[in-house]
Amino acid sequence: MNLVLLGPPGAGKGTQAALLSQRLGIPHVASGDLFREAMKKGTGWGKEAQSYIDLGVLVPDEVTNAMIEERLKEPDCAKGVILDGFPRTIEQARALEGILAERGEKIDRVLVIQVSEDTLIERLSGRRTCRRCQANYHLLFNPPQKEGVCDRCGGDLYQRSDDKEETVRRRFRVYTEETAPLIDYYRRQGLLTEIDGERGIEGVQGKILSALSLSP
Ligand code: AP5
Ligand code: MG
Ligand code: ZN
Repeated sequence: MNLVLLGPPGAGKGTQAALLSQRLGIPHVASGDLFREAMKKGTGWGKEAQSYIDLGVLVPDEVTNAMIEERLKEPDCAKGVILDGFPRTIEQARALEGILAERGEKIDRVLVIQVSEDTLIERLSGRRTCRRCQANYHLLFNPPQKEGVCDRCGGDLYQRSDDKEETVRRRFRVYTEETAPLIDYYRRQGLLTEIDGERGIEGVQGKILSALSLSP
């Protein structure tokens, strides 16, 4: 099964994708996580992406498409993937169709998690991310068991530099202008389900599972 999670910054794409990945046993592939990993290691894609990410704007399509294409060739993606943060432009959506078509596959469903701008500012200002495995926490809504330490891998938690309010507002504008058109694009193909993201993490998960006809 190939799923795409769409939604503004802070909507909960990463949080929900991680839960779904456990449930379905298929990998969570997040373009933002791949870029941050590449920046940490100082590889070519990381160097290309850094300045765009710091500004809160999109990395050029050709860089992003090439990185995702390589990731999707890895054997763990053979049974399907949960894509988080990709595609983000019509051009990327077409590239994804091409990559999947080459192996006789397609997108099965696109879920768009809808939240207001006030909610995402609240979520991103309290977010903490694991430096090692990129798991996400929230100081109030999803705190780790031990302050500053990742429950999953013991790594230390930090605040993403693009989570400053000014950069979050720019990311939200970029989402509205460049990514939101994908909502209609996928609706026209009959692939879209809208998910109300204003409830708690478990409530949103319940809505997603029922949209996929899976038991809670
Ligand atoms: P990326 O890393 O993808 O960031 P984003 O899309 O802005 O989304 P976030 O990761 O900020 O939010 P999320 O929806 O995953 O929310 P989360 O689950 O963490 O991209 C970063 C940058 O990389 C981009 O700006 C761009 O430069 C570049 N990039 C990436 N992909 C690209 C592409 N395809 N093309 C070009 N450039 C690209 O949740 C947020 C917080 O809320 C957490 O603290 C969480 O614990 C909490 N939370 C989650 N759900 C709930 C809930 N229901 N109730 C209460 N709290 C909740
Ligand atoms: Mg994320
Ligand atoms: Zn971790």
